[in-house]
Amino acid sequence: MSKGEPQSSQEGDKVRPAKLAHIVFRTNRPQELIAWYRNVLQAEVALANDMVSFLTYDDEHHRIAIAMLPGLVERPAMAVGVEHVAFTYGSAEDLFQTYGRLKADGIEPYWTVNHGPTLSFYYRDPDLNQIELQIDLHGDAAETNEWFEHSDFSVNPIGVRIDADDIIRRYRSGENPEQLFARPVIAPEEIAAQLPVPDGGPLSLKTPSDLSVGNH
Ligand SMILES: [Fe+2]
Repeated sequence: MSKGEPQSSQEGDKVRPAKLAHIVFRTNRPQELIAWYRNVLQAEVALANDMVSFLTYDDEHHRIAIAMLPGLVERPAMAVGVEHVAFTYGSAEDLFQTYGRLKADGIEPYWTVNHGPTLSFYYRDPDLNQIELQIDLHGDAAETNEWFEHSDFSVNPIGVRIDADDIIRRYRSGENPEQLFARPVIAPEEIAAQLPVPDGGPLSLKTPSDLSVGNH
């Protein structure tokens, strides 16, 4: 085993991946995408050639790859496939600083929401891929499961929209984060309005029961 190779992840009779490795985007706008991910994730270019560029921001060789393939077509709005990819920051301040840095650069989220398990800012890259920058609001997976069990998540699987500037100001002024980041309970008829406008235009949701659990 070479240095740094992930340990085997066998558990009982299950052999599982050791980690989630990377995401590859194919695009007709490689330079725009490379610039966007370098900026948003503060990533470095590990390798670049005429076909592919590898970007990383940690000890993985590449977390994001931008591939240029011949014959690509634009994806129709509301196409099936990946909904979004999420990146977790190590602290609220890290997420909030990133929000401020990007806002100063003219990059603003299309959706800012308290999901309950996470506080999440959603962005669209130049190809309209959706990228979630988030913080976990609970200590670990067990605490998150506990939150799911005791929350109104089965009624509201979406979350509650937040005003990012307001919550950042209140956080920095010393408000208790536990209270500030606690997801409020809202009326069932208010739930659909918490959703973002998709890149193809507003969804035609009629009632909260049209929302499927698992959106997050
Ligand atoms: Fe998510």
